[in-house]
Amino acid sequence: MNERAVFSGSGPGARTRDGCSVALYEQSPYLDELQDCGLTLGPASSVLDLGCGAGRLTRPMLESSALVTAVDNSEAMLRAVPVAAQTVLSDIESLHFGRTFETVLLASGLINHPELDARRAFVDCARRHLPIGGSFLLQRQDPDWLRNAEAGDSGRTGAVMIHVEAVSRAFPLIAMTLRYQLGDDVWRQSFSVVSLSDVDLESLLSAAGFDAFEWRGRKRRWLSAIAR
Ligand SMILES: C[S@@+](CC[C@H](N)C(=O)[O-])C[C@H]1O[C@@H](n2cnc3c(N)ncnc32)[C@H](O)[C@@H]1O
Repeated sequence: MNERAVFSGSGPGARTRDGCSVALYEQSPYLDELQDCGLTLGPASSVLDLGCGAGRLTRPMLESSALVTAVDNSEAMLRAVPVAAQTVLSDIESLHFGRTFETVLLASGLINHPELDARRAFVDCARRHLPIGGSFLLQRQDPDWLRNAEAGDSGRTGAVMIHVEAVSRAFPLIAMTLRYQLGDDVWRQSFSVVSLSDVDLESLLSAAGFDAFEWRGRKRRWLSAIAR
């Protein structure tokens, strides 16, 4: 399998190594993802938010009085995370925090990384930061969208207009360039991903020490699993 990670971006402001615009994520709305995946957090629940970006999901978890540790490898993103969270500048792959959390979250389709070693490293990171019985929640890219999206398709999240500028498929890789517009600002992000089926992800997690799989959310993008 010839897998190669390709990430780049353009547009105003700072960008992360995977081509995300910091300003875009700072202004992107929370879309009730945590309700969609059925995450319920009691007061003082501990959560590790991997690839937290500007804290779009960190913020509502803090509002539930959870204790959130937010991890990203972009300093500029972490500066936008609410100060109530503990922030950690690190690659997910090399994070060894030396403690466990009740819940680990890996959102935003990071798991669709084109390199199998990276996917394994993300899942291993989740496992080593959970006790037996701890919960892992991960969000994949929608397999139907990856299969069917065509150049020219448009949609929006909140006020952000999203346009597919280019897409090419060379199994198992899908390469895309998306254009985001918010007001007069325009950003582009190019990336390659692999589409992950239910079986792909359950096998990956099972090999890393998880079971009790449950698919969640309107488009079955969320997988919850328990550390065994
Ligand atoms: C698409 S953004 C999503 C941020 C946030 N989860 C959200 O839903 O708004 C992905 C974030 O993951 C971070 N990221 C990507 N790969 C990473 C890695 N290997 N280690 C740490 N952070 C990573 C990027 O810097 C970026 O901030």
